[in-house]
Amino acid sequence: MADAHSPKPAPQGPQRVLSGIQPSGTIHLGNYFGAIAQHVALQDEFPGECLYFIADYHALTTLRDPAALRDNVFNLAVTYLACGLDPDKATLFRQSDIPEVTELTWLLATVTSMGLLERAVSYKDKADAGVKRTTGLFMYPVLMASDILVYQSSLVPVGKDQIQHVEMTQDMATHFNSAYGVDAPLLRRPEWRLSKAPYVPGLDGRKMSKSYGNIIPLFESGKKLKKIVGQVVTDSATLGEPLTVEGNNVYALLELFYDVGQLAELRTWFEAGARDGKPFGYGHAKQLLAAEIEAHFASARARREHLLAHPEEVEAILQRGAARARVLARETIDACRRACGLT
Ligand code: TRP
Repeated sequence: MADAHSPKPAPQGPQRVLSGIQPSGTIHLGNYFGAIAQHVALQDEFPGECLYFIADYHALTTLRDPAALRDNVFNLAVTYLACGLDPDKATLFRQSDIPEVTELTWLLATVTSMGLLERAVSYKDKADAGVKRTTGLFMYPVLMASDILVYQSSLVPVGKDQIQHVEMTQDMATHFNSAYGVDAPLLRRPEWRLSKAPYVPGLDGRKMSKSYGNIIPLFESGKKLKKIVGQVVTDSATLGEPLTVEGNNVYALLELFYDVGQLAELRTWFEAGARDGKPFGYGHAKQLLAAEIEAHFASARARREHLLAHPEEVEAILQRGAARARVLARETIDACRRACGLT
């Protein structure tokens, strides 16, 4: 949004990538390919610091079950670590361990107009879907802006549905800088980057999402996994008939795991409805998919078993992450407090 004042240059500083993920339940293939895998890859690819946090404050806007929240937070931390997040390369922490986040949320709220928040599509969607219209739900984007700004993040990888929130964050940074950053801007204006996420269809072909109840969990295996994969919706081709590749959910899911060569081969089996002279149908394709999922996450599953048995290791990593994140947050808050006249 255009601001009446000319935008001041953002504070320069080290490159910092930040992303948050809500602890909202069973972690599935969509979470993995859409967020977790990319966050983990950035720890080696990004020429700067990586910060990832578990957005437990945000979860409170839709989850009111203390035991479930605690479980979800722990499981999400375990999942990140099991999937290869290295605490020596990236900072992993719990949002609520950083009190400066709620402090900055208030400061930002005082420069944020109702109108800006009223335009949030995700607020409208959630309210329309029956989520109670609390002030917390309404303030969701302010809390998210605080997450981003308090660490002076330069880059925020997000899914499509979160771009608007980062744009609102840019507005809030500009407003705050215009109001209080007379000498030098206080908050860095972050950029968003759309995650290069592949489309992950759920069991019914719609986007995989907990709210559609169409998920394939990451760490399921054996019979249970086969049973879930068996539920992927396909057309009703009979065994031996050619199978359609375009728009096929089983094919699209296998695409997430196969390289180009494997895919080319798979396509020939689909188009022939046969493999090595024998009929090839959706049942066979689903067996391949279940085997692929199980193999792909085998080592992650082993690391996960270890972490589940050693919650103290997970907690220590989260504490270490919080200590690092707080150093950055403290600097920002001290400067903002001074600028506002609080200290
Ligand atoms: N709103 C994000 C989501 O639901 C989670 C989130 C909270 C986040 N704070 C953030 C993402 C800060 C990026 C940066 O996906």
